[in-house]
Parts: sequence; C-alpha cells; structure tokens
Amino acid sequence: MGFACAKFCMQFKVMVAGAAGGIGQPLSLLLKMDPLVSTLALYDLAPITPGVASDLSHMDTPAKVLGYKGPDELPSAIADSHVIVIPAGVPRKPGMTRDDLFNVNAGIVRDLTQCIAVHAPKAIICIITNPVNSMVPIASEVMKKNGVYDPNRILGVTTLDIVRSRCFVGEINGVDPRTVKIPVIGGHSGVTIIPVLSQCKPAPQIQEQNKIEVLTKRIQEAGTEVVKAKAGGGSATLSMGWSGAIFTHSVLRGLKGEENVVECAYVKSDLTDAKYFANPICFGKNGVAKNLGYGKLNAYEEKLLKIALPELKKNITKGEQFVKK
Ligand code: NAD
Ligand code: LMR
Repeated sequence: MGFACAKFCMQFKVMVAGAAGGIGQPLSLLLKMDPLVSTLALYDLAPITPGVASDLSHMDTPAKVLGYKGPDELPSAIADSHVIVIPAGVPRKPGMTRDDLFNVNAGIVRDLTQCIAVHAPKAIICIITNPVNSMVPIASEVMKKNGVYDPNRILGVTTLDIVRSRCFVGEINGVDPRTVKIPVIGGHSGVTIIPVLSQCKPAPQIQEQNKIEVLTKRIQEAGTEVVKAKAGGGSATLSMGWSGAIFTHSVLRGLKGEENVVECAYVKSDLTDAKYFANPICFGKNGVAKNLGYGKLNAYEEKLLKIALPELKKNITKGEQFVKK
C-alpha cells in the first residue's frame, strides 16, 4: 500500500460495519491510507463512531471519511458502496470457541446483509465476523432470500491465517515474512484451518514431521494464543486490522481490473463436499474471477482435510439453518 497513485487510480467507496471496534478502528486507519479508497463510510452502533470518523478525517490522505451511527443511518452508509467489510460482532473470551459467538453474531450479520441486499446488492461483502465458517453461509442465504445472490461477491476473510503462517515461517527461516508464500485452506476455526506447508515457498527449514505438526497446530491455535494473552480483553484486533486491509486492497485491485490478484478467501465452492471452502482465489471486476483450487496435498495435509470437513460442514449447515428457519 502507498499514497503515490491516488490521483490517477480508479477509486472506490468502502464501507466498514463495526468501524468503532477493536478491529474496525485500525482497519479504518489503514483503509484511509489506501490509494484505491475514495470514500470511507464508517458504521457502528457505538456512540464514539462519529468521533472515530472525525478523527480519521483529519489524516492528510485523499479518502473522504463519513461516520454513521445506528440502524437509521445504515442505508446511507451502505448506499453506493463497492466493498463492504464486516467486523461487527462480539469477540471471544478465554475458554470460548468461535462457534460460541454464533448466537450473538449470526443476527448481526443477517441484519447487516439484509440491508446490503436492499441498498447495495452488487457490493462485494468481506466478512470478518466470527464464526466466519457460518457467517458466510448466513450472508449467502440472506442474499438468496432477496433474489440478489451472487456467490462471487460474498467472501470470508481468512487472511489472518496466512499472515500468521508467513510470520511464523519467516521467524523459523530467518527471512522477511512478507517474502513467504503459503496457502491456508479449509475454514477459519481450529481444525478447519489447514496451512499447506508442503506448498510453502521458501519451504520451512524444519525436516522432522513432529515439528511440522507443532507448527501446524500453532497456526490453527494462534487466535486462541491471542485470546489467552489478552486475558478477557478480546481477540486479535491489530493483526486483523492489518490482514483486513491487505484483503480489501486486493479486492479493490481486482475491481479496478488488475489481473492475477490472488488471496485466499472462504467462498462458495465445489472443490470438496463442503459447500464453502477457503483456498487461493483470483479476484476480478466482480469479486471472485477464478477459484484456483488447492493443488496437491501431502498425506499429512490430506489427513487434516479429512478431519476438517465434518466440522466445516456442521458450521455451514448451522449458518444456513439459521436463516432458513
Ligand atoms: P469489538 O467488540 O472490539 O468490536 C466490534 C464492534 O462491532 C463494536 O464497535 C460494536 O459496537 C460493533 N457492533 C456490534 N453490533 C453491531 C451492529 N449490529 N452493527 C454495527 N456494528 C456493530 O470486537 P473485535 O475485536 O473488533 O472483533 C469483531 C469480530 O471479528 C468478532 O466476531 C471476532 O471474533 C472477529 N474476528 C475475526 C477474525 C478473522 O480472522 N476473521 C480475526 C479477529 C476477530
Ligand atoms: C483469530 O483468529 O484471531 C480470530 O478468529 C479471533 C479469535 O477468536 O481467535
């Protein structure tokens, strides 16, 4: 990301739902710095929201910042958005699983998506809210109910798993983590997070299988590592703000017509018998341009996939049923 090309780039309206929260604020800060963003609409229920918008609006970058507070202002925040990023919802406390957040967050994502279906049905929706595995099916079912479903425009954000994998492999190999390339496939919770270390470039400098398994487990449990360290104060916010900004920038590059823009994302899928699956996706002018699949897995990764699929399918069904019932 940088400032240089702002004047010459095609630019977009990005709306953040949950903009006053732990993720929302750093994410909005980074989006205010994104040269592809011309308007940044910040929406939240919290009374601080207009203040967050006022604060960011004083930054000397071109994006115009607008604040919207409460459901009455939601339609205006949504209208004309090209991309809508959703980190609205409650985070975990120690001892909770992401699925424990379902009861509160499902209604939040359903209601936000309902408003998007009416006021910006063509927007690309990027869902950060947990459990991502269930929230993407919820948003999809809401769009279907409204007759405006486009699977290419509903994306679950799993970028933090890739960012963490790059970071941990970078540490092991003693290289800049930004030079590490690794797909993380499946979903975004515990066993559904599958780092494909056999495809990692450069290969992690660990030969023993037990060390590969320790690294895999660390990536799968990295969210819990942060939740424990924050000791009741929430989950990852800063690294997620960073990851969300990387993801949104890639979506915008695709929208602007750039080719070969690839990020892992959790999308509608027929690669496995789970209806949604995360893996490398090429973005384009309409969101998903091409699903790139996940390539060849080694025997250990195949085993991880076998373990992940029943959990993933359960999470997906739970989301679908929530909207259908
Ligand atoms: P937070 O509590 O700090 O912030 C959430 C914000 O959402 C709050 O400002 C709250 O007012 C707002 N909100 C609640 N209901 C809303 C609604 N109906 N409309 C608009 N805003 C609403 O939480 P956080 O740490 O920012 O985490 C947010 C979510 O992101 C959690 O569900 C968390 O589990 C998830 N998360 C996902 C990832 C990922 O990799 N996908 C990473 C970290 C956190
Ligand atoms: C993460 O991976 O950090 C997020 O999904 C938040 C969490 O609850 O772990």
